[in-house]
Amino acid sequence: MGFNIISAAEAASYIKHGYNIGLSGFTPAGSPKAVTPEIAKIAEAEHAAGRPFQIGIFTGASTGDATDGALTRAKAIRYRAPYTTNGDFRKSVNNGEIAYNDIHLSQMAQEVRYGFMGKVDVAIIEACDVTPDGKIYLTAGAGISPTIARLADKIIIELNAAHRGNQCIGLHDVYEPLDPPYRREIPIYKPSDRIGTPYLQVDPNKIIGVVEVNLVDEARGFTAPDPITDKIGQNVADFLLADMKRGIIPSTFLPLQSGVGNIANAVLGALGRDKNVPAFEMYTEVLQEAVVDLIRAGRVKFGSTCSLSVTNDCLQGIYDDFEFFKDKLVLRPSEISNNPEIVRRLGVISMNTAIEADIYGNVNSTHITGTKMMNGIGGSGDFTRNAYISIFSCPSVAKEGKISAIVPMVSHHDHTEHDVNVIITEQGIADLRGKSPAERAQTIIENCAHPDYKNLLWDYVKMSAKGQTSHCVAAALGMHDTLLKKGDMRLTDWADYNK
Ligand code: COA
Repeated sequence: MGFNIISAAEAASYIKHGYNIGLSGFTPAGSPKAVTPEIAKIAEAEHAAGRPFQIGIFTGASTGDATDGALTRAKAIRYRAPYTTNGDFRKSVNNGEIAYNDIHLSQMAQEVRYGFMGKVDVAIIEACDVTPDGKIYLTAGAGISPTIARLADKIIIELNAAHRGNQCIGLHDVYEPLDPPYRREIPIYKPSDRIGTPYLQVDPNKIIGVVEVNLVDEARGFTAPDPITDKIGQNVADFLLADMKRGIIPSTFLPLQSGVGNIANAVLGALGRDKNVPAFEMYTEVLQEAVVDLIRAGRVKFGSTCSLSVTNDCLQGIYDDFEFFKDKLVLRPSEISNNPEIVRRLGVISMNTAIEADIYGNVNSTHITGTKMMNGIGGSGDFTRNAYISIFSCPSVAKEGKISAIVPMVSHHDHTEHDVNVIITEQGIADLRGKSPAERAQTIIENCAHPDYKNLLWDYVKMSAKGQTSHCVAAALGMHDTLLKKGDMRLTDWADYNK
């Protein structure tokens, strides 16, 4: 291999206060696991000695607790972009302790290249192999590795034996577009097209050292589907099938994108089980466990993704059956897996989860009651804005019915009424295509709202000032305000807001 083998602690000692570090991976899949906890220890020691130690973090998406968790608890993060799911990080962001830049995932690599976030001092890249001439073979997530490895002054490799070299090599298609004014079209015309190399090429002189580890991904499992998520999944499958029968979706079907989380996993399970839906392809950013089962069953023909966000048992199963999977999967950098140009060209059908939607079809994916960050926008905007059909689903209520997912006005806008085609809850399907705001309100309230909230929402519409989009501005966030004051949106009294 020809590189210095160094300890994780020694590697961490190269990271200085004020640095920006770039991390490989996308979700815990492929993220560093050994060096970042050592950086956290340095931060704690520096803080104990009365010295400042804070860094900026550039990633593909979320990481594992060894990064976002350990560094947050050590108060070592000054700035971070983009998406993350870590609970400790969430608390610190909502306390105002970390500058969090929640941008669309497809834009992360290019915004680092454009210099919007400052320079990359050190890149920490998890690899399953590295050659003396600087070819790095990535593991279970591609993320923004090509960009940060190229831009960084120095590179640290975490060579992880848990990702079995021979079974990982060949999964990736590494490609980095040129920047304007030299950018050309990205020549992907079907989900299985390969346009790059299976490795990442770097200047070997930039590699400070290799940290040898044997650590599995900090993968998250999903809670088992329940009757609500099963019903949502079935509603999504029914909707897509009806569109196919009407000829809106071609009989060969179109590639699907699916978001993260319990609901997304349940939706994919339902789609796979419904034999009326033909075997399909995925052009997506995270490939979850349900899809791996569907590939084995022949229900998913091909999966283009940025990461294998699956449990470790599932990942080992893929490695065990590498001969079967190698021509059915490709892992791409996030600016390619989520690229708007390709999403629109391929006619991807996007399926993401909402925190709340309003009666006109605007969607909030990120903020609880308008102020508290949940996770981030992830790739939902990359896909929604450019999809052939954009679908959002969620349970009609949260927290034992105290919160309605359908509200008069979303408390934070991530996806506007101009981009959202369909809203689905366990109650039913609101097809918003071709409809005016008033028609959208009718179908969303009638088909998607929980029965406990229908009258409340209709009363809101009745008291609204008429317009293209009717609202009562003093009451638009009244259900959220009631939740904050009384703990239950069902206690909303519109008279309190319409005096
Ligand atoms: N108000 C308050 N809490 C709400 C809520 C609301 N309107 N809607 C949902 N929640 C809570 C749930 O009760 C649950 O809380 P818990 O963790 O305490 O049980 C939590 O939010 C997660 O909701 P859940 O119903 O389990 O859905 P999920 O796991 O699918 O997550 C999102 C939903 C929206 C948070 C998640 O999909 C996300 O982060 N999306 C943004 C990124 C994205 O869409 N990426 C797509 C490309 S991969």
